[in-house]
Amino acid sequence: MTRLSSEIVVPVISELDLYDRELIQKTGKNLRQIAAVSVGTAEAEIAKPVSSISTAVIPITAGGGVIDGFAPAVRAIISHLGFNSFVTRHNDVAGLAEGVEKGVDVVFLSDDKRFIALNLKERFIADNAESTGRGFATALKLMADNLTGRKVLVIGAGKVGRSAMFRLKEYNADIAVYDIVRPKAQKAAEDFGAEVEEDLGDALRHNPLIFDASPAQGVLRAVDITPSTLIAACGMPLILDAGAYKLVKERLIHDPLQIGVATMLFSAVFCC
Ligand SMILES: NC(=O)c1ccc[n+]([C@@H]2O[C@H](COP(=O)([O-])OP(=O)(O)OC[C@H]3O[C@@H](n4cnc5c(N)ncnc54)[C@H](O)[C@@H]3O)[C@@H](O)[C@H]2O)c1
Repeated sequence: MTRLSSEIVVPVISELDLYDRELIQKTGKNLRQIAAVSVGTAEAEIAKPVSSISTAVIPITAGGGVIDGFAPAVRAIISHLGFNSFVTRHNDVAGLAEGVEKGVDVVFLSDDKRFIALNLKERFIADNAESTGRGFATALKLMADNLTGRKVLVIGAGKVGRSAMFRLKEYNADIAVYDIVRPKAQKAAEDFGAEVEEDLGDALRHNPLIFDASPAQGVLRAVDITPSTLIAACGMPLILDAGAYKLVKERLIHDPLQIGVATMLFSAVFCC
């Protein structure tokens, strides 16, 4: 996974209301509703956990170290969804102890390899890569209205891409997959009944529904965008160049943290 930076995560905190409005315009649902749909939760079911569940975000210094603003951004997303949340005063093991001693139900913690939400009572882990694939697949489905029998091109068959493919299959989509490492695309094809694309340019020409789960930057150009193009792009950085972005920004779902964290939260709370 691409390591995030303060420049990317800090603006998330002040832009959550704006992002909700953008999501409603594009999908008909806000962040909380997208996450709830992703984990199959009805709006009414959410009310109880909101008032009773508390969460802590623990800064972790391992690996590349704490990204300034990351833990506050995660906390802000959780609070925006209506749940109690705080960033622990201490880092690492002391932070975990602090969270448990304060009686929290779910802790969020991330190093360079994994970002998880751990439901302490239920011993359930919600993984960010899995949740991001799941949440963005749901956002694409909502934006497209219905994916049944429609082909989605998934770019990147790593952790997020494979989670997305699993969900897209549940939404009855057909899947075409492209990965710069061909055996990864082939493995995904076997596992998800997908069709392997050999050439990204060709694949983009005949697949207007796109799910990007790769770290590729600027490889999608204006020439690849048609009036029916819809894109869910969780890959970091953004796969679009400036020309393509201008053409498709009203039909593009892209964020660095929000949908993944929201889906992790509901996944951890409802253990699913
Ligand atoms: N927006 C979010 O909330 C969020 C959350 C998690 C991960 N991400 C991002 O999503 C992307 C995927 O994450 P992951 O954990 O699945 O990573 P991963 O390393 O497991 O998988 C990435 C896949 O993309 C493939 N790839 C690399 N360059 C490519 C290219 N030019 N064209 C096609 N395929 C290419 C790799 O071979 C690999 O299979 C990363 O950019 C990561 O930073 C975003």
